[in-house]
Amino acid sequence: MKSKAAILWETGRPWSVEEIELDPPQQNEVLVRIEAAGMCHSDDHVRAGDGYAALPTIGGHEGAGVIEQVGPGIEHLAVGDHVVFSFLPACGRCRWCASGRSNLCDYGQFLMEGSMISGGYRAHARGKDVGTLSLVGTFSERTVVHETSIVKIDQDIPFEVACLLGCGVPTGWGSSVNIGKVQPGETVVVVGIGGIGANAVQGARLAGAQNIVAVDPVAFKTDQAKILGATHTAASMEEAMGLVQDITRGVMADVGVNTIGVVEGWMIQPFLDLVSKGGRAVLTGMARNVDDKATLGLQMFSLFEKSLLGTVYGGCNPRADIPRLADLYRTGKLQLDELVTRTYSLDQINEGYADMLAGKNIRGVIVNQF
Ligand SMILES: NC(=O)c1ccc[n+]([C@@H]2O[C@H](COP(=O)([O-])OP(=O)(O)OC[C@H]3O[C@@H](n4cnc5c(N)ncnc54)[C@H](O)[C@@H]3O)[C@@H](O)[C@H]2O)c1
Ligand SMILES: [Zn+2]
Ligand SMILES: [Zn+2]
Repeated sequence: MKSKAAILWETGRPWSVEEIELDPPQQNEVLVRIEAAGMCHSDDHVRAGDGYAALPTIGGHEGAGVIEQVGPGIEHLAVGDHVVFSFLPACGRCRWCASGRSNLCDYGQFLMEGSMISGGYRAHARGKDVGTLSLVGTFSERTVVHETSIVKIDQDIPFEVACLLGCGVPTGWGSSVNIGKVQPGETVVVVGIGGIGANAVQGARLAGAQNIVAVDPVAFKTDQAKILGATHTAASMEEAMGLVQDITRGVMADVGVNTIGVVEGWMIQPFLDLVSKGGRAVLTGMARNVDDKATLGLQMFSLFEKSLLGTVYGGCNPRADIPRLADLYRTGKLQLDELVTRTYSLDQINEGYADMLAGKNIRGVIVNQF
């Protein structure tokens, strides 16, 4: 069938919205009509050439939609089901999935290759095979994905916010809750308030943090963070130093979460300086592959017993956590509507990313009209 998608043919170039030819779903695959897709910074890392991804590829790894066709072997999903795409697949069988750490699923090895888990490509354009970013490729009207990349959700959750449950919300929320292990009464500093950081703030709030310091050079971002639960704000890590010293009587933060759009090596030491003795510093933001080395003061790192913790997906298990986060939204405990600053059509994707880079959006969301 014919469809439309935003393709990256070459790094450093804009997304190209064009017609694609889509094959029907094969074994354990489904065809999904994509209603909404979130614009995460990670797609822009790929566009900018900050890391490896096989090209050409259809971009997008946050999305929500409706199943239109199921391939052979699909047992627990049906046409008409509402689903959220998970940017990491969960096979359910590998040692990571079996031990409740499906964010580390061995299927992750296929992530940047663009081809299907079972091999081959379902999308084609200009006579060439086209991959799908994160095995999903949500910057399109329709996509064919493996069943391990989608999670069924209740139909009352609007697509515009449901799409954020596939990356931004769990990654940020889990960075505070699962990796930072925020405890009631603690002080948390979140550095970088985009779609990920906004949810790190919410995770800290739900875990009972007493002080939540939101750090971002853009005033609009820190203003939004206050709506989501930040108690204090600062324009830079330098400015946050004095503030955190004041509110903790010199102890510093129990937990730091770094969700900066483009992390650079020099940022790690000032980030670690914001956390207390015995504190946990969570690194969620991504660096460019050409600038991913950091220098640390090792003596104080040991003697102050600090932890620097990397994370992918905030340690979330998509099958358990996506429905759980949807329930928290339904009961008013998790704010999702406030995360969507502006919606765009698929044709406006490059405008949407320009707005993200200019600091205008917490999240921009592409909404397809059918
Ligand atoms: N580890 C994972 O699993 C995972 C998943 C998704 C996204 N990410 C990464 O998380 C990062 C954030 O993604 P996003 O979509 O929220 O990006 P975003 O661009 O929407 O937000 C990043 C924010 O960082 C702020 N910022 C930039 N420099 C700063 C500085 N020096 N101090 C404080 N704030 C600063 C920007 O103003 C912006 O508000 C990206 O690197 C993305 O690739 C990681
Ligand atoms: Zn993402
Ligand atoms: Zn697995």
